[in-house]
Parts: sequence; C-alpha cells; structure tokens
Amino acid sequence: MVNIAIIGYGYWGPNLVRNFSSTVDCRVHTVVDFRQERLQVAKRNHAGINVSVNPDDVFNNKEVDAIVIATPVFTHFDLAKRALEQDKHVLLEKPMTSSVAEAEELIALSEKHKKVLMVDHTFLYTGAVQRIKRMIEGGEIGKIKYFDSTRINLGLFQPDVNVLWDLAAHDIAILNYLVAEKPAGVQATGISHTHNGIENIAYLTINYNSDFIAHFSCSWTSPVKIRLMLIGGDEKMIVFNDLEPTEKIKIYDSGYHHQTDEEKNKILVDYRAGDIFIPKVESKEALAGMATDFVSAILHNTTPVSNCDSGLEVIKILEAAQQSIKNKGREVVI
Ligand SMILES: NC(=O)c1ccc[n+]([C@@H]2O[C@H](COP(=O)([O-])OP(=O)(O)OC[C@H]3O[C@@H](n4cnc5c(N)ncnc54)[C@H](O)[C@@H]3O)[C@@H](O)[C@H]2O)c1
Repeated sequence: MVNIAIIGYGYWGPNLVRNFSSTVDCRVHTVVDFRQERLQVAKRNHAGINVSVNPDDVFNNKEVDAIVIATPVFTHFDLAKRALEQDKHVLLEKPMTSSVAEAEELIALSEKHKKVLMVDHTFLYTGAVQRIKRMIEGGEIGKIKYFDSTRINLGLFQPDVNVLWDLAAHDIAILNYLVAEKPAGVQATGISHTHNGIENIAYLTINYNSDFIAHFSCSWTSPVKIRLMLIGGDEKMIVFNDLEPTEKIKIYDSGYHHQTDEEKNKILVDYRAGDIFIPKVESKEALAGMATDFVSAILHNTTPVSNCDSGLEVIKILEAAQQSIKNKGREVVI
C-alpha cells in the first residue's frame, strides 16, 4: 500500500485526490494546502482525510511514501526537491518546472535517492492519444509530415508562466509521445496584453532536420474554445477534436501526390479525398490511468509513460520558445 500526500487543493488538486482515492494499492494519506478554506472542502469531500497547511508535515512523516504536487509552476522545484531529499517518490503536475536546470537537478536527485519522479502529462493517458499512437506505430498514417495544434479559449491568466507553458505543455508532450524524431530548433512569437509582460497569446513552431514540422497556437483570450489537433501523414490524416464528446478522432483517407512536369518545370499535385473513418476511443478517465502508472512505478519499478525524462524534453522546448519570443521569433537551436 502506497501512502500518498497531495500538496495543492485548488482547481486541479481535487481531481488528483479523487483519482488516487480510487486507485488500487494506494491511499490518500494527507491533503496539504496553505488555504484553510480549501482544506475544509477536502474534508467535506473525503471523510476522515488528514489535512495540513504545512508541506513539512508530510515531508517529515515516515508514513507518507509519495508526494503529489499540484501547486503553481514556480513552486514545483522547491517542493519536489524537499520531498526527494526526504526520500519520497514525487509526482509533479505539468509543466514539470520553470527551467531546464531545475528539471535536471530534480532528475539527478531522484536518481541519487532511487525514487520515482514522474510528471502528470494527463493527455498521454487519454483513449484518443493512445489510439492515435497505435495508428501511427501500425503505419496506418504513413510518414508523418506535420502536427498542428490549436488550444485557445477565454482562459485563466496564470501569474507565473506564459500561455505556452500553461497550454502548449499538453500538446508538446503529446507530440513528443507520438513522434520519435528529436526537434532541431524552435521559433516563437507572442504578446502580453497585461502589465506583467506574461504572454497571453503565442505561436510556436518546432523545426526538425527532416521535412516534418510542428506548430502550436495558444491563447487565453479567444471568445471560442478550440482544442484541435491535425496530424498529417503521407497516407492518411488525423483530426483530433478533444471537445467532441464521442467522435474525438477522425481519420481522413486524404493525401496528395507530387508530379513534376519536366517541360513546364512545375510541381503538379494530385489530391486524393477518400473515406473518413471514426474509430471508437476508450472513454476511461485519463487521470485514473496516470495514477495507476505512478503507483505501479513505485511498487513494481516500472517506467511510467509520462516519466521525468519526457517531462524534461517538454521543458527544453518551452524554455527555448521563451528565449525565441524574447528575440522576436529568432530560431533557438535545441
Ligand atoms: N494535468 C492537467 O491537465 C492540469 C490541469 C490544470 C492544472 N494543472 C497543473 O496543476 C498545477 C496547479 O494548477 P491549479 O490550476 O490547480 O492551481 P490553483 O492555483 O487553482 O491551485 C493551487 C493550490 O495550491 C496551493 N498552494 C500553492 N503553493 C502552496 C504551497 N507552497 N504549499 C501548500 N499549498 C500551496 C494554493 O493555495 C492553491 O489552492 C499547475 O502546475 C497546473 O499547470 C494540470
């Protein structure tokens, strides 16, 4: 039995407490939040649960095996470091940390203390992403040429990180999970419409050495909510609309074929628009799968799908994107 303490019972923490409470081989030992009113809500929702306003209570408690951190990003490093130093396994909410240096230091600490360090990139556990991965690996889509993601809505302005760290973190994790090729460089632009200079609209392009390209459009200031991902292969193309209740993925048997007209020295493109296939997608809550993966990594020494190395790869791209924004979109080599 793994005893888990969860730090942060704001917007996302309650989902973690609920899912870990129903995961086998573990129990939620304590909920920590420095806001008393949130702890009252936790107690109302989970009878008999221990609560505390002080993270040290769980770091120093020998009964606690693992710490789940669901606080704002700028607090992740300090809390995770203290937890690992007290020999606790750690699950960090996305994005893992505020910098590559912090993520690397945590990974080194987890290795030194032989503890699991995992990042909650929830989307990797969705039925839709799992299905897309199987299709790509099965060769159904052909060679992937582009990945284009739009994640916009009237969103909560975060006080510590820009919109890419908040929203693109999800899509970059999905991209890295689906595509094996490593990025070569990133270009990003963005704008802040507030006095704190934190970008609320941003566009990110990831360049590769092959002819594959990835692009992300993120905004907290769109009147409509869009969660749309296009993945184009040279055989078929996938449209993943996460706002669709059931038909989240559509596979278009569409494509194009190049011919060069030598005489005219022109590129001619033959288009193909075939059937559209809507696969059935597992609808189990993704967080339940994530929680099981964390507990299993602790108990059985398995490598989680959303592990600390993949968490670090996301941070590398986000940090480079931030640098590129500061340089007015100049490419930053990774
Ligand atoms: N995986 C996902 O899909 C997903 C979705 C939303 C948020 N998140 C992530 O979850 C994390 C938290 O986001 P949120 O929207 O719940 O934030 P939030 O501000 O709503 O909640 C954070 C809570 O942590 C508490 N807190 C902050 N610092 C603390 C500390 N040092 N000790 C004790 N309590 C502390 C605050 O009082 C607050 O109640 C972020 O990293 C965010 O990116 C992930």
